[in-house]
Amino acid sequence: MTQQTEQDFSKQYELTAPHSEVVAALPFVSGRRALDVGCGSGRNTLYLNSKGFEVTAWDKNLTSLARLNHIIETEQLNGIHTAEKDLNSLRFNGAYDLVLSTVVMMFLQPETIPQLIADMQASTVRDGYNLIVAAMDTSDYPCTLDFPFTFKSGELSNYYRKWHIVKYNENVGQLHRTDENGQRISLRFATLLAQKGSVKA
Ligand SMILES: C[S@@+](CC[C@H](N)C(=O)[O-])C[C@H]1O[C@@H](n2cnc3c(N)ncnc32)[C@H](O)[C@@H]1O
Repeated sequence: MTQQTEQDFSKQYELTAPHSEVVAALPFVSGRRALDVGCGSGRNTLYLNSKGFEVTAWDKNLTSLARLNHIIETEQLNGIHTAEKDLNSLRFNGAYDLVLSTVVMMFLQPETIPQLIADMQASTVRDGYNLIVAAMDTSDYPCTLDFPFTFKSGELSNYYRKWHIVKYNENVGQLHRTDENGQRISLRFATLLAQKGSVKA
């Protein structure tokens, strides 16, 4: 099978490019099994698969999953396992080298987050990685959107205090959504790449 690049899929199937943090994380991850938590139409799943990963991809949106499944079938891709899952009512375990969730957690119920992160961590092999990007609500960039959940400053990194944090920032980013003046809405996003089992005592 010829390996596809993310650009091929983006153009051909009108997907947005894979999240830049997924691209940036890839050189760190040595394994080959990934879990995409809230995969949407699969821009990150397809990218990882094109780089040789076997990817399990979960989302609750059947339209998005159908779009991804259409690409998988059309391109006869191997090693992508999609499933409809509601993260608000899910417990799971596994043995993945990379568990990722980009721009998903702000759509979940607040009470979901602690157990979801615990399950993501438990599903990661030793020396494996978690990558999370999620919206925040801070005093300088208050979240005015109706997201059920946003991280506070330091909250996401605190969940990973026993892991080796490779990258963590709370930089300002822009949503595609616009405000009443047509300006794209700016928010802080918590971005974390952490490796399991490498914490210093
Ligand atoms: C902004 S999209 C991001 C998709 C993908 N991670 C990406 O970066 O392209 C947010 C995704 O979260 C999914 N989502 C929201 N609530 C969910 C839930 N309760 N269970 C599973 N997926 C959910 C949505 O269906 C949507 O695909």
